[in-house]
Amino acid sequence: MSEYEIGVIPGDGTGPEVTAEAVKALRAAAEVGGLKVRLAEYDLGGERYLRNGELVPDSVLSELKGMKAILLGAIGHPGVKPGILEQGILLKLRFALDLYINLRPVVLYPGVYTPLRDKGPDDIDFVVIRENTEGLYTGSGGFLKKGTPDEIAVQESINTRKGIERCVRYAYEYCRKRNRRKKLTLCGKTNVLTYAFDLWERVFYDVGREFPDIQTDYAHVDATCMWMIKNPEYFDVIVTDNMFGDIITDLGAMIQGGMGIAAGGNIRPGVTGFFEPIGGSAPKYTGQNKINPLAAICSAQMLLEFLGEEKAASRILAAVKKALQNDIRSLDAGRMGLGTREIGDLVAGYIRKC
Ligand code: IPM
Ligand code: MN
Repeated sequence: MSEYEIGVIPGDGTGPEVTAEAVKALRAAAEVGGLKVRLAEYDLGGERYLRNGELVPDSVLSELKGMKAILLGAIGHPGVKPGILEQGILLKLRFALDLYINLRPVVLYPGVYTPLRDKGPDDIDFVVIRENTEGLYTGSGGFLKKGTPDEIAVQESINTRKGIERCVRYAYEYCRKRNRRKKLTLCGKTNVLTYAFDLWERVFYDVGREFPDIQTDYAHVDATCMWMIKNPEYFDVIVTDNMFGDIITDLGAMIQGGMGIAAGGNIRPGVTGFFEPIGGSAPKYTGQNKINPLAAICSAQMLLEFLGEEKAASRILAAVKKALQNDIRSLDAGRMGLGTREIGDLVAGYIRKC
């Protein structure tokens, strides 16, 4: 029997509510599939920071490093100045655990409303692979003459050949394994960012020679946004840098039905990763049983896939699809026709029946 040690970080706001439902799904899928999962919970987030100033203590970090995978709810607290928790927890984990891939599927499930008129599940089915440890996110740069009329702010985009290469190679492999249209699109800005994306482009085509079965394709980031709305069926797998990936995946979340369904993984392939609903902590809904847990449940599905437990993962997916088609009226908080816990119970029930 396979055995996994999984870290759980429920986090802030509605994070704990949705995480509880993701854990329900995970346990149900594990039970049916004969897997043993041991969960270790960590209270990281705004509350802890306000209580004693701690973000990710070293002892917690080293325990997390030993986990096979981590489930994360949401980080973000209205009482904490913007930037502190993001940098001190989310980015800290990405960098310290070297989670160099941010994997964000953009898939419209049957029964889900998309704001794109005339587009359906056959059209909206692609994956964004975002480089997750470099680019504009490294914190490289600084101020000169700060606070004076002559001040200068520099924020540098760091792009290493090794960093790009490992990300791009993962994307080719992912595209091959996904086996859908076998098309990998590099999303960049080669016409303006003539150093960073020159390197990206060269590495992209160099590595591509090892994958003759994968069709290569390029789109500028602005055009990518346009195509995502106009012709989303154009895409299969998109690989891009950290900042562009951040932006286009919010757009992606909207066309797949919103933050109630969008999940993602921060991954160090073969080692560890944390999986999360990509929406925030939605503090105004805290404790109301109104927020949609499906994104969190889908992150549990991604976690199982990452562990190589494809069967258990697909059981969760089938259950989510069933709930979407039969039971859930809307993905928006408060308009679902069911509460957070009820959706969690429903999905867990379907997992057991599947
Ligand atoms: C995301 C978020 C983070 C990012 C923030 C909270 C630092 O927007 O995961 O997409 O920019 O990466
Ligand atoms: Mn983002």
